[in-house]
Amino acid sequence: MMTSNMFFVQSYAKINLTLDVLGRRPDGYHDLATLMQTVDLYDTICLSATTDQSVRVTCTQPELASEDNLAVRAAQALRRHFSLKQGVLIELDKHIPIAAGLGGGSSNAAAVLLALCQWWQLQLSPPDMLALAASLGSDVPFFLTGGLALCEGRGERVTPLAPQWPAAMRWLLLVKPAISVATATVFRYLPSSDYTDGTHSRAVCEALAGRSKLQPENLHNGLERGVLERYPQVAQAREDMLRAGASLVRLSGSGPTLFAPFSELLHATQVQQQLHAQGYEVYLSRAIYPSGGNVCLF
Ligand code: C5P
Repeated sequence: MMTSNMFFVQSYAKINLTLDVLGRRPDGYHDLATLMQTVDLYDTICLSATTDQSVRVTCTQPELASEDNLAVRAAQALRRHFSLKQGVLIELDKHIPIAAGLGGGSSNAAAVLLALCQWWQLQLSPPDMLALAASLGSDVPFFLTGGLALCEGRGERVTPLAPQWPAAMRWLLLVKPAISVATATVFRYLPSSDYTDGTHSRAVCEALAGRSKLQPENLHNGLERGVLERYPQVAQAREDMLRAGASLVRLSGSGPTLFAPFSELLHATQVQQQLHAQGYEVYLSRAIYPSGGNVCLF
């Protein structure tokens, strides 16, 4: 019997369409209601067997090739859970900007969990898989399914939503200002005056289900005000996006990446070219609904 010895998997980024911060919890995390959507910006991961029972990582961005990498921790967590000795080499071809509010590290971790379960034929119940994912990070459970989902609790309570994407947001321009932002810092300095009660996320859920009209003010991110105030480069990028012709600009997660929706490709491309000429890192993207088809076995 031929056994596979190499696994390729695509690991998609996300944006937060809404992010209501409901309040601070006794454990230091914050309760959220956030609508997340995967977009077609992705890293490619290759998994292959090592002969020495070790978990190793190489990465196109060498600073990520360490044992702290969430993808490595995902593989280690699975090995521990099943008392396995199998080694694995994780090769990470990064395209999703790092510490950018696009969930790249969390997505890589979820992709490794899913791929290794398939490759090593591990039977992990959905609740155990969720618990393992949540132990790695608040956003990791979302990436087990991806698509469009409402994420609550600290982000780990995921309700997948039917794919419904408005034509007004057919194209998404992602702009990554040239700084990194630590999520923990953004949450640490968040004043309670930026808390909301989940109204925005609920309203956008209703609109995406076709039961009401999408109001732009409901594409609200409770972290945005603080990030724009604290990081002038992000405020400047927002200004430049609006000046280049975007009509709506929002922060994704804790930033610094900003996104702007467009209904027409040509308009999105014009704005993209102008921002690129100004020196910005810009990605033209769209909502995507990953399926099992993104795992490729050799
Ligand atoms: O869960 P994760 O490790 O991705 O979170 C990074 C940091 O962001 C946490 O240590 C915490 O400070 C902050 N955070 C939060 N509330 C959340 C998610 C993250 O305060 N719901």
